Amino acid sequence: MTVTEPRASVGTPVARIDGEAKVLGLAKYAYEQVVDNPAFLHPVQATVARGRVTGFDSSAAEALEGVLLVLSHLNAPALADTSDQEYAVLQSPGVAFRGQIIGAVVAESPETARHAAELVRVTYDQHPHDTELREDHPDLYEPGQVNPSYPADTDDGGVDQALAAAEFVVDHRYTTPMEHNNPMEPHACTALWQDGPRLTLHDSTQSVHGVRTRLSGILGLDPEAIRVVSPYVGGGFGSKGMPHAHNVLVVLAAQLLPGRPVKLVLTRQQMFTLVGYRTPTLQRVRLGADAQGRITAVSHEAVEQTSRIKEFAEQTTVGTRSMYAGDARRTTHRLVALDVAVPSWMRAPGEAPGMFGLESAMDELAETVGLDPVELRVRNDPATDPETGLPWSSRHLVECLHEGAARFGWDLRRAPGSRREGDWLVGLGMASSTYPAYLMPGNTASVSYGGHGHYSVRIGAADIGTGSWTALTQIAADALGMPFDHVHLEIGDTQLPRATVEGGSAGLASHGSAILLAGQRFRVEHGDAPEAGATTEATTEPPGEPAYATHSYGAQFVEARVNVDTGEVRVPRMVGVFSCGRIVNPRTARSQLIGGMVWGLSMALHEKSVVDHALGHVVTHDLADYHVLSHADIGDIDVTWLDEEDPHANPLGAKGIGEIGITGTAAAVASAVHNATGRRIRDLPITPDKLL
Ligand code: MOS
Repeated sequence: MTVTEPRASVGTPVARIDGEAKVLGLAKYAYEQVVDNPAFLHPVQATVARGRVTGFDSSAAEALEGVLLVLSHLNAPALADTSDQEYAVLQSPGVAFRGQIIGAVVAESPETARHAAELVRVTYDQHPHDTELREDHPDLYEPGQVNPSYPADTDDGGVDQALAAAEFVVDHRYTTPMEHNNPMEPHACTALWQDGPRLTLHDSTQSVHGVRTRLSGILGLDPEAIRVVSPYVGGGFGSKGMPHAHNVLVVLAAQLLPGRPVKLVLTRQQMFTLVGYRTPTLQRVRLGADAQGRITAVSHEAVEQTSRIKEFAEQTTVGTRSMYAGDARRTTHRLVALDVAVPSWMRAPGEAPGMFGLESAMDELAETVGLDPVELRVRNDPATDPETGLPWSSRHLVECLHEGAARFGWDLRRAPGSRREGDWLVGLGMASSTYPAYLMPGNTASVSYGGHGHYSVRIGAADIGTGSWTALTQIAADALGMPFDHVHLEIGDTQLPRATVEGGSAGLASHGSAILLAGQRFRVEHGDAPEAGATTEATTEPPGEPAYATHSYGAQFVEARVNVDTGEVRVPRMVGVFSCGRIVNPRTARSQLIGGMVWGLSMALHEKSVVDHALGHVVTHDLADYHVLSHADIGDIDVTWLDEEDPHANPLGAKGIGEIGITGTAAAVASAVHNATGRRIRDLPITPDKLL
């Protein structure tokens, strides 16, 4: 082997190794994978919100030249496990929400499949439906737990007395609307069923092994008979964190056309019913404080929806449990099951809507007490986790607040409504950010030496556009003491060692820890002059009882300009300072944090899925009507982080960065709008009509 000087790769801004392939269009996404003689599937979706299919006339569709198969509950293969009703596709004539899959056409071309799907004549026995979340809904219930596995309620019993005794109290209601994930690459899946049986999927997913595990149970197939391949993913944001009904649908079709790959790509409109979304939330936040602004009582209650066929309970108030000091504490979640599509993970589920409520209430408390909002947060920074009593693995929120205030020029803030420049009212606002640092156990990585100084590192991880392909290679290079370009990483295939989802902001920590372990073990076993072909595999152990509370933190500052005539809000500049442990790649990390803040600004000003309750249908179901920020809406975003590592989080010292950027942003924007205008907007998004 050639002797090369080892150099430290982690911490350097290496450019994405997949960047050139993506820019040149050479990176093959799921739908672009070349397969022999593909057939194309188009779903048939329910046009009623609740009821049963009583007639499914496919004669016109079947008569169309090029149609291979029309699927419905009448001829679909039976699934082995229908306990999860999201996946029980075409197993009954029941309709549980408008847009649910009730059939499909497979044809020689996508155009034929789509045309034929429109020719299917469906009749229904329609039942009354309810799609409207209300705080006083008679069917509200307390879920057994909230995502992923937190208790639904916490209550130490003292909140009402503490609120009654408090010097200052704020008590307000905040709402966030239904919002939809819109990754740039739509969900796509190609399924090939072969004798054996063997099943091969080219899927756009955050978790190849997760898709395999779920489908294996649903289909009653040995996991080893299923291969899932997903080398490139054009965004996921949680919506590709698990399979959805379309995956089952395309597999059912492939089962009836063995040997023929069946391709499906969802339209943007189909994504508004089939791949999850963020529940609307109705929140009530009460805070009590003493004369010095020290919080004495915290109460955060959330009301949310789930679907009638599957429970997903967003953990809206969980972030509040650990955020600030205060002895008396209560948090609750109440759910109602409606005739709606299945909600699921959407970037920072829980913290994104919940921190809008909590941080907005903190802004209101600061005003009520007469304290600067930064100072209020500093004054209520808890020494240990108020929820568990555990010490912090590291908590540098106060440093983020001070650093952010200095970078932003927070001292220029004036009284609400007092700064006007031409037709624009100008205000400055801020909020805190937080996200838990999860570490998912049971990841396996392998390292093998190919000779000539070149190593292969293999793990079934995903890169959903985050840069993890590059950052994981950096971790491997350092673990092996090799230069970056001597390490070849393979990800995105169930034929690679088992990996957990790239989600929960835990991909890098979870997959990277396995790679680090495998690299270190390889050197112990084979030394630094290994034989070609030497291989080592390592699996991360489940952690024991936590000894620390481990979260990322941040502080966000926003300048808002509100037009006095139109109510239009412009945000020319934002500052975010984050504390996320060690940063493995500053270039890709910066993109993640900016991306999160862009999402947060989009949530603050634009995003809202509007439901027509008469039809039970999301009417803003495309990117013309569902507004997300465009480049022209984004001003200067200054992102930085504290130079640190968290010694207790994991062997890498890194905490998550994928989701924290969206948390708190909307509250910071609302805080700035209030400072500009004197108006409190407690219902997202902050559209012009609310300011006129
Ligand atoms: Mo993220 S919503 O956990 O993919």
